[in-house]
Amino acid sequence: MIKKCLFPAAGYGTRFLPATKSMPKEMMPVVNKPLIEYGVDEAIHAGMTDMCIVTGRGKHSIMDHFDTNYELEHQINGTSKEALLEDIRGVMDSASFTYIRQREMKGLGHAILTGKALVGDNPFAVVLADDLCVNEHKGVLAQMAELYNQFRCTIVAVQEVPETETHKYGVISGEMIKDNIFRVDDMVEKPEPGTAPSNMAIIGRYIMTPDIFDLIEQTEPGKGGEIQITDALLKQAKTGCVLAYKFEGKRFDCGSAEGYIEATNYCYENLYQKAKKKESKPAVVKVKTAEVEMA
Ligand code: UTP
Repeated sequence: MIKKCLFPAAGYGTRFLPATKSMPKEMMPVVNKPLIEYGVDEAIHAGMTDMCIVTGRGKHSIMDHFDTNYELEHQINGTSKEALLEDIRGVMDSASFTYIRQREMKGLGHAILTGKALVGDNPFAVVLADDLCVNEHKGVLAQMAELYNQFRCTIVAVQEVPETETHKYGVISGEMIKDNIFRVDDMVEKPEPGTAPSNMAIIGRYIMTPDIFDLIEQTEPGKGGEIQITDALLKQAKTGCVLAYKFEGKRFDCGSAEGYIEATNYCYENLYQKAKKKESKPAVVKVKTAEVEMA
């Protein structure tokens, strides 16, 4: 069972400036919940209990979010508003949260390597919180954890994208070994238009075996001068095994304005409104039978 889930959350979020100038991108709310909480929910749903978060300067609000706020709690305890804290209290009771700081933003590969001190010699999941994934029956990480139990190797989640979009992603090619599962033989980070090996793009969900850390250490800076996880994963695919999994569900790129708005509309209609309707149904009154002690 995979227990650890790593959240690289140290990036600058430049596509969302100025909103992200002093607020972490991962704390941007989709309806009433910050992005990173959706990712943590998904990890808990997949049976993971250790949330390992890679942070950076100006990211304190992430730590505060997964901690008790005594003043607020004192103020609303016993009022009708207390129910609004139920979900986050449940999250905090179901998982532990540890943090490490990435001192220099040298790319996703470097952020994952920074997380090694928290993850240790264990297989682990990686969630990029700005990719919001929704499957109301079985979350994407839960689908991937099941696959990991079967194959015991690194798995990347992929999604078909239009050819005009491939330059924004890491793109894989590989042989299909089962429905929706591919054995990766090539991987290119942000290929130039017209050169992508396929239209299957890697999205922000991974399961990795711990040998990836040595491979990242041997990886030179690549595209954009950053240490790219795609380059380390390609080495792993060449020397061992990496699978790509075409997941079931929806994914919103909340690092872009369009994806963020789509996610907000979707979550408002399909998650938030539904939950509200459930809450407003008259409660079933349970009649407790009195235990009468006969003299
Ligand atoms: P992105 O490239 O999507 O995030 O990195 P970014 O750099 O924050 O955003 P833009 O492109 O400038 O708008 C993917 C993930 O990797 C993390 C980011 O926080 C994001 O979750 N990351 C990236 C790090 O933790 N450290 C880095 O050095 C780079």
